[in-house]
Amino acid sequence: MPKRYGEMSKDMSDAVLVTGGAGYIGSHATLCLLEAGYSVVVLDNLCNSSARSLERVAQICGRQPHFVQGDTRDTALVEQTLKDHNVSVVLHFAGLKAVGESVEKPLMYYENNVAGSVSLCKAMQAAGVFNLVFSSSATVYGEPETMPIDEDCPAGVPTNPYGLSKKMVEQVLTDLAASDDRWSIALLRYFNPVGAHESGLMGEDPQGIPNNLVPYVSQVAVGKLAALQVFGDDYPTVDGTGVRDYIHVVDLAKGHLKAIDALKSRKGAHIWNLGTGVGYSVLQVVKAFEKASGRDIPFNIAPRRSGDIAECWANPEKAKAELGWVAEHGIERMMEDTWRWQRDNPEGYGV
Ligand code: NAD
Ligand code: UD1
Repeated sequence: MPKRYGEMSKDMSDAVLVTGGAGYIGSHATLCLLEAGYSVVVLDNLCNSSARSLERVAQICGRQPHFVQGDTRDTALVEQTLKDHNVSVVLHFAGLKAVGESVEKPLMYYENNVAGSVSLCKAMQAAGVFNLVFSSSATVYGEPETMPIDEDCPAGVPTNPYGLSKKMVEQVLTDLAASDDRWSIALLRYFNPVGAHESGLMGEDPQGIPNNLVPYVSQVAVGKLAALQVFGDDYPTVDGTGVRDYIHVVDLAKGHLKAIDALKSRKGAHIWNLGTGVGYSVLQVVKAFEKASGRDIPFNIAPRRSGDIAECWANPEKAKAELGWVAEHGIERMMEDTWRWQRDNPEGYGV
């Protein structure tokens, strides 16, 4: 019999499988799930993370997730893991996310992100698990003409294989849900996740030189990088620099628990934006980080980065109405928590 987790017992004895649970967002979601009383199994191949993040999770909440080192493309392993742990819902974070790398290595991205998601769904079907929360991205909107972006805004054409892989997986999951009404699927479109756990024990640990703004700024603050390159100051925005909707990673993680609850009474595939509804420019982020850290962030104005859009922020009303979720933390808190993590862990998890 398929398990719908509306039927889960009150003590939540069924488990949640978190793919990519050792990574940045997945580890924060794992912590939230454990704190809320769920049993958690993490499946991660550690290609972009360290299992030390899960030790930190245990340090913070006193509970451990079960850890399976493995790959979403290993369908048999995933099916066995779902059965062994009596899993009833899957949070699917596992994937590759570096935009530039995806342009250089498209097959790697389509294989990992698209084929990995298909493999996961096949394993879920075989194990009788039909509840899935997928990590999508605002990148699927492409270059929208009006702000803020709501879920009815038509998906655009992402400019790179990473973005296209997210759009493709959304299509696969939408078709799957239409084909079989046992499925309940959340497509969560994240805006720009930043920040870290308030303890300073968990945060983002990018390998090599960061691609994204906030990790780059925080490495400038500790002297690992000399200066920020601001990609363009001639956009039609408040100060000419790009505007984004930055969202605290802990708020984002909590959105996943709300999505789990919302799926209990919904079949089919459902899209929710997870953002704050407020946009900040690059220079406003730099200023907020300087205030939080007390450090100067030297920067130079550089040419626009290919594929960037001028501005992007969410209308988060659908998530508020249907999930009962709103982002609680503002930009000051996002920068304070990022700084605490970077200051206390200049080498990240240290591996
Ligand atoms: P991350 O790289 O920190 O985490 C991803 C995790 O998945 C890593 O631990 C990695 O080792 C693991 N992984 C990758 N491929 C795997 C595979 N085939 N099998 C098993 N494990 C695998 O990234 P993140 O920032 O935590 O992002 C999580 C998800 O959210 C990703 O799908 C990403 O595309 C999506 N997302 C991220 C952002 C962002 O800005 N961070 C924005 C929108 C969407
Ligand atoms: C990027 C990806 C997006 C992905 C998201 C999360 C691109 C084009 N988009 O979003 O697909 O979902 O990361 O991984 O890569 N900036 C600088 N200097 C820097 C870095 C960034 O000025 O060194 C600027 C950018 O031009 C942008 C803003 O900071 O205006 C935010 O950039 P970033 O953190 O990379 O996020 P996105 O581009 O929104």
